[in-house]
Amino acid sequence: MNVSWRKAKSWGLALFITMAVEMFLVSQCFAKDTHGRPKKYDHTTSPGVTLNVTDKEVVIDNGIVQITIANPEGYLTGVSYGGVHNILEYHNKEPNRGYWDVVWDTNGYNGTDWLLGSSFNVVVENEDQVEVSFTYKWDSTTWNTSQVWRIPANVDRRYIMLRGSSGFYAYSILDREEGMPAAKMYQIRSVYKLDEQRFHYMAISDDRQRTMPMPQDRDTGLPLAFKEAVLLTNPTNPDFRGEVDDKYQYSCEDKNNKVHGWISFDPQIGFWIITPTNEFRSAGPVKQDLTSHVGPISLAMFHSAHYAGYDVTMSFQQGEPWKKVFGPYYVYLNSISQDTDFHQLWDDAKHQMIQETRSWPYEFPLSNDFPKSVERGFVFGRLLIHDRYKLRTIMAGSYAWIGLAAPGVAGSWQTETKVHVGYQFWTRADRNGGFLIKGVHEGTYNLFGWVPGFIGDYVYIEDIIITQGSVIKLGNLVYEPLRNGPTLWQIGIPDRTALEFYVPQPSSLFVNKLYTDSDQNKFRQYGLWERYAELYPDNDLIYTVGQSDYHTDWFFAQVTRKAENNTYKPTTWQIIFALHDVIPSTNYTLRIALASATRSELQVRFNDPELTIPHFTTMVIGSDNAIARHGIHGIYRLFNVDVPSEWLCVGNNTIYLKQTKHESPFFGVMYDYIRFEGPPPTT
Ligand SMILES: *[C@@H]1O[C@H](CO)[C@@H](O)[C@H](O)[C@H]1NC(C)=O
Ligand SMILES: *[C@@H]1O[C@H](CO)[C@@H](O)[C@H](O)[C@H]1NC(C)=O
Ligand SMILES: *[C@@H]1O[C@H](CO)[C@@H](O)[C@H](O)[C@H]1NC(C)=O
Ligand SMILES: *[C@@H]1O[C@H](CO)[C@@H](O)[C@H](O)[C@H]1NC(C)=O
Ligand SMILES: *[C@@H]1O[C@H](CO)[C@@H](O)[C@H](O)[C@H]1NC(C)=O
Ligand SMILES: *[C@@H]1O[C@H](CO)[C@@H](O)[C@H](O)[C@H]1NC(C)=O
Repeated sequence: MNVSWRKAKSWGLALFITMAVEMFLVSQCFAKDTHGRPKKYDHTTSPGVTLNVTDKEVVIDNGIVQITIANPEGYLTGVSYGGVHNILEYHNKEPNRGYWDVVWDTNGYNGTDWLLGSSFNVVVENEDQVEVSFTYKWDSTTWNTSQVWRIPANVDRRYIMLRGSSGFYAYSILDREEGMPAAKMYQIRSVYKLDEQRFHYMAISDDRQRTMPMPQDRDTGLPLAFKEAVLLTNPTNPDFRGEVDDKYQYSCEDKNNKVHGWISFDPQIGFWIITPTNEFRSAGPVKQDLTSHVGPISLAMFHSAHYAGYDVTMSFQQGEPWKKVFGPYYVYLNSISQDTDFHQLWDDAKHQMIQETRSWPYEFPLSNDFPKSVERGFVFGRLLIHDRYKLRTIMAGSYAWIGLAAPGVAGSWQTETKVHVGYQFWTRADRNGGFLIKGVHEGTYNLFGWVPGFIGDYVYIEDIIITQGSVIKLGNLVYEPLRNGPTLWQIGIPDRTALEFYVPQPSSLFVNKLYTDSDQNKFRQYGLWERYAELYPDNDLIYTVGQSDYHTDWFFAQVTRKAENNTYKPTTWQIIFALHDVIPSTNYTLRIALASATRSELQVRFNDPELTIPHFTTMVIGSDNAIARHGIHGIYRLFNVDVPSEWLCVGNNTIYLKQTKHESPFFGVMYDYIRFEGPPPTT
């Protein structure tokens, strides 16, 4: 793929070096010496793995961990580790300890399917590895005859235990065949409920870990604006009194959701969900989802509407075939002696996460639907960027996010969940824009990307076809972000979040103490939407270009304003900017990049707030619910408005940004970045 480009020569040496490094990386990936097993795997000193099957149970044991699975349903009833008979919450009914579920609907029915198996099979049983499978074969005559309908799909649920491995792997395969009814799937996940007397400390990142409230503290507390958020009024541990608990405060972007879990202090044991890749999660690397939360509960989320809304529903037509492998992910257990600092369990879990990530794609899962690394392909190249009127030369697309997903328009990966199965393969480019995507399943893809600091989405127009062992060299690709003229002014930075804007402190009544000292995480506090009307009691926000500072003068979300009797009013923000002259008979350009939208219509008017028909409207967009879920972004949308010079005047101009939908405190938009461009320079 030759990108013709005159300056190519000056890049010659740098390119040569980058390509050499890339080829080295490619060869490294082929030369994986651990056979896809994590490094800690110790063949010699550990006892073999044993399998004991009875009518009711399947028990797998490797001398380190023992797991008990219901036969033939496939849910996990017991995990024995570190001298503790069952680290799961054994007071719960057996199906409610370690399970999968799918929230879905079909014509005339909506509900949850627990993916229960009806048949048990041993896939492999030897000293090094036991893999078992619990299957359900969809049956057109019985699927909708009992109270709980079954999703129209065949199910294959699997567990793997390796010799010397301090944990177990789990994955599921959903398979829709021709002839199956239409269905929509909203959420696919697996859930672990741990012993609440033991697991009190939760960790999801270096700076997000704490001792958590007890589940009964939520029952005795006061539900807030929605049931997930509870004010702890009478907690078991009085230190939590007055704090808010909400599982959405512990959400995470999928790209960072690699390890999270819980620590027990007595004995000192860690329970961790390690997800070594993002390939089987839907909607790309910055999709956000839940991790662990009060229960103590840990989730492995594969698909959900969280922070994305109805735009990501998996919607299958009658007879539409589809098959996808969710996982494997690793449930890792670790322990240390009582006199050691328990934080070491988190450090060790992170270390194990790195081992698992390096071992991806695993070689040991035996389903034919899980491609081994030799069956996968590589794509590499370099992304350059040419932002006309800003950069005189072509620059490296430093640290760009680059991914392969089903063919579509720029940015379509954000809502891509099932077309072409629904796998996505993402990586981050280096400083020079060089990228290598490895482990790509066979298929036809488009290459997508975005570059932090630049507006918009990149798509490479040609299809990329991956076959077994493909090594595809794309060479230099050039992204030309949308631009018509020089920047006259801008607000924010194009990074697809609202984090750089003003995020207020929470009300003192609604604090989560974990985030009180963290600038990076303060948006996760409850109730920030109510702070807008307190900060702007009489008039809406006015931003004056050249005088205002977006860090302090641009509220992170354009929310509604609370009025009497629990009603809410629309808000209209103003941007005032001065023009020394207006070039007649030409177009200026306003670009509005939104980081989030929930049931919103953003109307834009120039210099006349009363204009009946707005100069521009987004129409009603979004259901990502990022305001209510304490997010700092949802789905990214870029709007480009041609601004004829007749709309402008010499001197001060005002842009009115009116969000008209106001039925709820959670309706509104978050801005990522706003830019006003002059007309194209005449030559
Ligand atoms: C298998 O499990 C059954 C029932 O728990 C038990 O009686 C039996 O001893 C076990 N067999 C082995 C080989 O551990
Ligand atoms: C099923 O879905 C419909 C439409 O989405 C909704 O109105 C209804 O309340 C749902 N029923 C249940 C039991 O969730
Ligand atoms: C159950 O599914 C069958 C097709 O598999 C369909 O013909 C029948 O109408 C369905 N029953 C109900 C109550 O929807
Ligand atoms: C609020 O509700 C009360 C009682 O229903 C009513 O008298 C009052 O007029 C309402 N105020 C507004 C602004 O609608
Ligand atoms: C300005 O934009 C409008 C709307 O897109 C377009 O119809 C018109 O041709 C443009 N005018 C110029 C001078 O480019
Ligand atoms: C434009 O508005 C700013 C801020 O309100 C004000 O300071 C300035 O005097 C105005 N300029 C003109 C030409 O009206």
